[in-house]
Amino acid sequence: GFIDGASATRNDALKVILEGLRRLEYRGYDSAGIAVVAEGRIASRKKSGKLANLLAVLEDSPLPAAVTGIGHTRWATHGGPTDQNAHPHLADGGRLALIHNGIIENFAELKADLLHKGHLFISETDTEVAAVLLADTYRDVLAAGGAASDALSVAMQRTCQRLEGAFTLLAVHADQPDSVVAARRNSPLVVGLGDGENFLGSDVSGFIDYTRRAVELGQDQIVTITSETVDITDFYGAPAVGKEYHVDWDAAAAEKDGYPSFMEKEIHDQPDAVGQTLLGRSDEHGRLTLDEIRIDPTLLKTVNKIIVLACGTSAYAGQVAKYAIEHWCRIPTEVELSHEFRYRDPIVDDKTLIVSISQSGETMDTLMAVRYAREQGAMTVAICNTNGSTIPRESDAVLYTHAGPEIAVASTKAFLAQITAAYLLGLYLAQLRGNKFQGEIKDILADLAKTPAKIQEILDNAGQIKELARSMADTKTVLFLGRHVGFPVAMEGALKLKELAYIHAEGFAAGELKHGPIALIEEGLPVVVVVPSPRGRDSLHAKVVSNIQEIRARGAKTIVIAEAGDEAVRAYAEHVFYIPEIPPLLAPLLTTVPLQLFACELATAKGFDVDQPRNLAKSVTVE
Ligand code: G6P
Repeated sequence: GFIDGASATRNDALKVILEGLRRLEYRGYDSAGIAVVAEGRIASRKKSGKLANLLAVLEDSPLPAAVTGIGHTRWATHGGPTDQNAHPHLADGGRLALIHNGIIENFAELKADLLHKGHLFISETDTEVAAVLLADTYRDVLAAGGAASDALSVAMQRTCQRLEGAFTLLAVHADQPDSVVAARRNSPLVVGLGDGENFLGSDVSGFIDYTRRAVELGQDQIVTITSETVDITDFYGAPAVGKEYHVDWDAAAAEKDGYPSFMEKEIHDQPDAVGQTLLGRSDEHGRLTLDEIRIDPTLLKTVNKIIVLACGTSAYAGQVAKYAIEHWCRIPTEVELSHEFRYRDPIVDDKTLIVSISQSGETMDTLMAVRYAREQGAMTVAICNTNGSTIPRESDAVLYTHAGPEIAVASTKAFLAQITAAYLLGLYLAQLRGNKFQGEIKDILADLAKTPAKIQEILDNAGQIKELARSMADTKTVLFLGRHVGFPVAMEGALKLKELAYIHAEGFAAGELKHGPIALIEEGLPVVVVVPSPRGRDSLHAKVVSNIQEIRARGAKTIVIAEAGDEAVRAYAEHVFYIPEIPPLLAPLLTTVPLQLFACELATAKGFDVDQPRNLAKSVTVE
């Protein structure tokens, strides 16, 4: 489940929350619900499916005006996406409403206790267990003579002491019509400070229309907001302080900017995403100035192994990073999916540098892997796009990607920004170690500085690839081939097509083709080949051109991404898309773009919602 906007003020809490839910819907959209406190009672509506379904319910059966309320969009974990399992969950005879993000791992045990005490449950969710436990504890606090004014906060503290797992909880009670009480452990929660009004959200986009002042809560904290106050404590009631910061993303940045989808807008944001990520990180002498890598340089110099941890698209950025970091720094570099790393007894010590890559900074698999590595004594650097999120907070240092908010579920601009940041980190480590490669750093930085304009050039000439994509709407399978840095690009191209167009797609290392996958080639099968630059030092180009001939001879329909001036491939390709010249290691910043445009356009031609593909969520905060 996912928590969303909450306002403790205005007489239009409903409007504020629905607007917040609309902005946060990318976090999950299996079902949505809302509860307001009005006329001394809780009034609530919830519905499975996208937010539009809830709006239709509210149309038929409106909620009363209120100053306090909570809302939620869900991505199902425990219990399917039904109306009943949607949040909020009510307890205390309908006088308490609660929403939840995360997973409560010991819910079965707690539920057994509560059933034994005579409580009844109407859903299958772990969330309802939290609601009932909170209500039960609330009654205990009152019975023991606790002050009604803070009974809900105290009950929330005691409830959280008993919960295991990951959770953000928000609750309202009819007895306290002007407060919202919230708690967080391992899941995100931010407070928005308004003027005579305060807000809570999973992230700032939930309340960005109303305030830019935000407070980030720490681990295991409780916050109680009213229209005038924000009180933070730990799970034992001891006062705590959150960290206030200013949000520099504006509401317009979170909107579509006139594009038909966030995805298309974000693809077009890429020149900026790369440009902003490079900005201010080197000086006029071509030296890296990554002041944010606050790890003692003498310690960093002792690093003898780098492990890059990430999931999904971010893991492909990690694979690109491996080629660059090893080449520039001569430090052995592994890339591993976070969820695999964490559970296989990996070799990690105080000379290991962990580089996590996460757009959201909240992916639970990656967070757990980073925590584990820290426990083993590793140094940790996060590459992340979301300010103040959990993974950077729990790392020794963070290198932010400045791609701006990424709303579409399938990652595009964050990917290019991650690759850019990973290059910068690789160059920085090379500079620090003072190895023989020094002289080239300046030239590479100059080449990187030229990439935004080259990405723009590809976007300005997107017509050809889009037309091809539309003509392929009926395709059932597409293979992608690449070599060297083109291999992760091929896998990312395939992932985009799976995610957006629900087409079976696979990315292979072109050299591996002959060892198995070539058996898949049959008449008319589309194969996209990412061809390395013919200017590369080795003979990779020639080898990939041979691969194209091999599949073509077996009937494949070849679609080729090649560097401008590469006439050799033309003879073997049904379609060729040229990208501007770029040094081979940096090529993913360009070769990825046509593949993103291809998947986006093909899915759109099939009539799919490219911003919210089925079954996926933007930020997966469960393991
Ligand atoms: C989810 C998203 C993917 C994303 C992955 C990693 O699965 O659907 O698009 O690449 O999480 O997310 P992160 O925020 O850690 O980069």
